[in-house]
Amino acid sequence: MPARIVIGAQWGDEGKGKIVDLLASQADVVARYQGGANAGHTICHGDTKYILHLIPSGILHDGVICAIGNGVVVDPVALFEEIEMLAKAGVTTAGRLVISPHAHVIFPYHKQLDKAKENYLGQNQVGTTQRGIGPAYLDKIDRCGIRMIDLIDSSSLKEKLTQNLAEKNKMLKTFGADELPVESMIESFTRMGERIKPLIGDVSTLLYKMIKEDKEVLIEGAQGTLLDIDHGTYPFVTSSNSSSGGACTGLGLSPTSISHVMGVVKAYTTRVGNGPFPTEFDEQFGKRVRELGGEFGATTGRPRRCGWLDLVQLKHAMIVNGIDELAITKLDVLDTIEQLKVCTEYKLDGRKTDHGITDAKQLQRVEPIYDTMDGWMSDTTGSKNFAELPQKAQAYLKFIEDYLSDAKIKIVSIGQERERTFMM
Ligand code: GDP
Ligand code: IMO
Ligand code: MG
Repeated sequence: MPARIVIGAQWGDEGKGKIVDLLASQADVVARYQGGANAGHTICHGDTKYILHLIPSGILHDGVICAIGNGVVVDPVALFEEIEMLAKAGVTTAGRLVISPHAHVIFPYHKQLDKAKENYLGQNQVGTTQRGIGPAYLDKIDRCGIRMIDLIDSSSLKEKLTQNLAEKNKMLKTFGADELPVESMIESFTRMGERIKPLIGDVSTLLYKMIKEDKEVLIEGAQGTLLDIDHGTYPFVTSSNSSSGGACTGLGLSPTSISHVMGVVKAYTTRVGNGPFPTEFDEQFGKRVRELGGEFGATTGRPRRCGWLDLVQLKHAMIVNGIDELAITKLDVLDTIEQLKVCTEYKLDGRKTDHGITDAKQLQRVEPIYDTMDGWMSDTTGSKNFAELPQKAQAYLKFIEDYLSDAKIKIVSIGQERERTFMM
């Protein structure tokens, strides 16, 4: 059976973790293709909350294989912390986790350089998660990255780490940051390599076979379209292709083996980190929605910036990802908002446009044009289907679907827990 990709259609934190966990009950394999431990995917089962950074959100379903593709940058320290967190909660990863030998490894110097660069940029900083993501992808493109295949080969690791750290220490010194010792790093990463060895496997062939055998293959994006290095609000983006195209290169998956792209869309918009955000609320209203939606970063705990739904950017996301299915999340967060606005057009330098603008400098100048609707002012969290939603909530969803004419709403989420969801 061809694969389904689930991606974030906004600036991340749309609720991908919840949606992937939900769909994973029918899946045989769930695979991540980009990003690293900058992601924070939350899954709530009853009173238990799991936050996953690297391991795909299918891990809570027994028997589902979880794969980490070549496009992911893996911090082994974060990986082992996550495996241990799951083990404590009674979730076994043994025999279910496969990591590509070509995934790049994040080392402590990547994290140090991430911090040092942000400090250096000062007011112009991106506001990264400081998880070493940018510096690790930089090494990959510069052809000096250290991959899983090197991590599990002690002589290769020693040779490459010695060479890289000598260069990175010079860079750290230039930034005025602390240099790092090589011997202890070789020792600790050699040990981690030994632990990781049994997890290494050919992800591309695994997915190929699964698809041939008619198995259900689910691909999980991290971050969101507007954080994509090519299609996002550059330079305020992450360093990978979080949009659906990244799944092909980040897993070794052919475009012809993908049947659906599901865009996860929060019923409003949030952004964490710096960069333009045309529909952002003023401080007071932003605080109200942040509290209603619990909008604090799952990875860094930073307060998320909140704003109205931006359909212009969503149309851009639909185009670059090929979104044909939508999962609308956090509709319940709007239950007590008297009046709702939805951005349907931009005004840029006096001209109206419904074309998604991603250049940060242009986007900074954009004036959003809104349609205004009455809020439904009632509790949606108990709704079991579309018909049970208040009329005005139905109208809000229909408005989104009509605007994004190529995509149909498949899932509506009205609370954190698995049960607070219905399919269309
Ligand atoms: P992800 O990175 O896309 O997986 O999203 P995050 O986990 O970072 O952020 C989404 C937050 O919203 C998490 O705390 C989820 O538990 C929560 N959430 C997801 N869907 C819903 C929903 O429909 N309603 C409410 N109230 N919370 C939700
Ligand atoms: P999930 O998968 C929201 C943001 C950071 C920063 C920019 C670059 O949970 O949706 P990076 O550390 O990647 O170099 O930071 O990207 N960012 C996210 N924002 N959700 C995420 O992941 C994010 N991952 C990175 O805040 O603005
Ligand atoms: Mg998140």
